[in-house]
Amino acid sequence: MLREMNLYPLWVRKDMPAPIEQPSAEFSQEVEAQSVAAVVPVEVVRHEEKSIAPASGWSELKAQVKDCTACKLRAGCTQTVFGVGDENADWLFVGEGPGADEDERGEPFVGQAGKLLDNMLASIKLKRGSNVYIANVVKCRPPNNRAPEAEEVATCLPYLKQQIALIKPKLIVALGKTAATSLLGKEATLGSMRATLHDFEGTPLLVTYHPAYLLRSPAEKAKAWQDLCAAVSAMNNLKN
Ligand code: URA
Repeated sequence: MLREMNLYPLWVRKDMPAPIEQPSAEFSQEVEAQSVAAVVPVEVVRHEEKSIAPASGWSELKAQVKDCTACKLRAGCTQTVFGVGDENADWLFVGEGPGADEDERGEPFVGQAGKLLDNMLASIKLKRGSNVYIANVVKCRPPNNRAPEAEEVATCLPYLKQQIALIKPKLIVALGKTAATSLLGKEATLGSMRATLHDFEGTPLLVTYHPAYLLRSPAEKAKAWQDLCAAVSAMNNLKN
């Protein structure tokens, strides 16, 4: 897991706690400065979202997603990929959309990017399915792994919003630009959205790099590690 995160080899002095328990003083100060009281409200520029009938609960929402043909993505994919995990989780991780492996298996983040996501979760002592829910902005695989178009995002976003309303997570972690800009409703670079505790309709939201990007740019894993430490700190502040 440490090797995956570019944090290996790791030398820990016997008299010092492991860094996961105690991030660097500089970093923890930076993180503490972002207490929940400092949540930054974002001016939300709404997409033209498709309105869907609010589901009465999980089973109705799952059925709605399964039967959805509201955009052109459904015709080109094998199955919808709803989301996976603890439906009462404190943590919600949001990706972009299913890839080939997810399309085949019907579960988010099960390919190479998913393996890295599992390691990212393990690095902060989290585990898929245990107090963690994983979902995507779009539920159908975009062809050739292209990014979903604005209209496809606008059509599918209400499903994610209903998932969020049902889970009521304490913290949302947006993985990559599509998740961040879709949820925050504004165009911005990923770099400019990191290191700020945003607000998604009353739920704190942090932004970090998408695992697939980290696979292509392993040098950025150190920044993702900072983001994960900030997320842990934000969660601890939320619980206190
Ligand atoms: N990338 C995503 O954004 N989501 C997945 O489920 C898989 C890869």
